[in-house]
Amino acid sequence: MAILVTGGAGYIGSVAVDDLIDGGQDVVVLDNLSRGFRTSVNEKAKFYEGDIGDREMVRRICGENDIEATMHFSAFAYVGESVEKPDLYYRNNTLATLELLNELIANDVKKFVFSSTCATYGEPQHIPIDEQHAQKPENPYGWSKLFVEQIMKDLDRAYGLRFVALRYFNACGATAKRGEHHDPETHLIPLILDAAAGKRPHISVFGGDYPTPDGTAIRDYIHVSDLSQAHLLAFDHLRKGGSSEFINLGNGQGFSVLEVIEAARRVTGKEIPVVIETRRAGDPSRLVGDATKARAMLGWKPQLTSLAQIIESAWRRYE
Ligand SMILES: NC(=O)c1ccc[n+]([C@@H]2O[C@H](COP(=O)([O-])OP(=O)(O)OC[C@H]3O[C@@H](n4cnc5c(N)ncnc54)[C@H](O)[C@@H]3O)[C@@H](O)[C@H]2O)c1
Repeated sequence: MAILVTGGAGYIGSVAVDDLIDGGQDVVVLDNLSRGFRTSVNEKAKFYEGDIGDREMVRRICGENDIEATMHFSAFAYVGESVEKPDLYYRNNTLATLELLNELIANDVKKFVFSSTCATYGEPQHIPIDEQHAQKPENPYGWSKLFVEQIMKDLDRAYGLRFVALRYFNACGATAKRGEHHDPETHLIPLILDAAAGKRPHISVFGGDYPTPDGTAIRDYIHVSDLSQAHLLAFDHLRKGGSSEFINLGNGQGFSVLEVIEAARRVTGKEIPVVIETRRAGDPSRLVGDATKARAMLGWKPQLTSLAQIIESAWRRYE
């Protein structure tokens, strides 16, 4: 039996595909390559170039392969873009996922691991953020994912869909084979490494006057390999008949922007000039997740939790 991985040509999905294949699992990838790369897909995976919202394509995949479960990574994931083009996000992340889910259920594929996000929580009411925290997204990206969470709950009740929604905090780092490539790049660590490599004159830090020890915003960084492992554990949970769950994936400790830059200076040996700019609207001072449930329920133990490990892995793959 095979696992269908949507978005398997993207940053996180491609690592999960490698890990599944290394574990002896057959993998089918569906990706429209709008934001991913064909070269990032493990050559042992069967690849379909197409859209998750194309029901005929999903039907064909289910007909040609014995699909046991789906790991659904595909989405658009830029907060700023989602504010400018909310319709794009609701269509690609919410409506297309509904089509995908309907077709999977019609083909009796009812185990589903979903890439959700801490952006579904919005402005934190308490830190660390656990799964019971109120969900009030601050942008259409967060809403597009929260709507899918609600849809999955209802499809579970109506049709017996079994899902694990993994709410990731900030994905980061690289494996020996795969690095992070987003275009445009908006993630902090690749931007810092660009500055270290001289591809950017400096790193802009948005806000130096937050109520944090060094005045810069604190985020929870979680290594892409640890994220991938959590997907494998979520799949095992569903395979054993486990219930539908919402689970945070975070490091449990926050690092400030200046701490990340300082760690990158140590790892790369480069100066990395910093320019402090004004705060961006809607950026909370602290976002740190409580991942106790992932540890207790899935037996998840993140391995690459120090900034040095995270940045070293990204710098090794840096091109
Ligand atoms: N990177 C993060 O820090 C982070 C944090 C929280 C949640 N997430 C979620 O994790 C998932 C993966 O993120 P990523 O950073 O790997 O993104 P990515 O852009 O690198 O990968 C997404 C992949 O999905 C594909 N895709 C997009 N729309 C598609 C469609 N309609 N049909 C088929 N393929 C489509 C893209 O071509 C790309 O290969 C996303 O769902 C994202 O929302 C990411």
